[in-house]
Amino acid sequence: MEEFYVQIRQVHIAAVIASGGLFFVRGLLLNLFDQRWVMAGPIRWTSYAVDTVLLTAALMLMTIVQQYPFADAWLTVKVALLGVYIGLGSFALKRGRSRRVRIGFWAAAAGVYLFIASVARAHNPLGLFAGL
Ligand code: HEM
Repeated sequence: MEEFYVQIRQVHIAAVIASGGLFFVRGLLLNLFDQRWVMAGPIRWTSYAVDTVLLTAALMLMTIVQQYPFADAWLTVKVALLGVYIGLGSFALKRGRSRRVRIGFWAAAAGVYLFIASVARAHNPLGLFAGL
């Protein structure tokens, strides 16, 4: 599998961009432009499919670089914040009772997602704050 490290990493990063982009656009259309079709089955399944690719590539990368959550701090933070992101995202698109609340959760989820990307880039649990 190691010989495909570069390609698998590219797939992971492409899925990260697709997944984050999809969440951002869905939240925007739903909460600012009242476009409820973004919650329709085919869009949700597309999002699940992209996330499955993202996580499958993540597991392969973990095996290749031999770094693991609960052993390597940056990956522990990544997995923990992914849980936070999923929770915030669910309130942003579904559970939030009012538009204002959903927009707040949507912005928070987007911030957490960008921070996770910075943790990944830096290989440091502090992410973009590592250099401070
Ligand atoms: C919890 C699930 C995830 C796991 C286990 C995981 C694991 C990994 C691993 C092992 C690498 C390879 C690092 C290396 O080449 O040394 C990687 C790279 C990367 N991951 Fe993830 N990842 C996950 C989710 C995410 C998410 C949600 C994002 C974005 C928000 C993300 C963004 C990135 C980026 C940008 C890279 C490339 C970093 C670099 O330039 O070296 N990952 N990930």
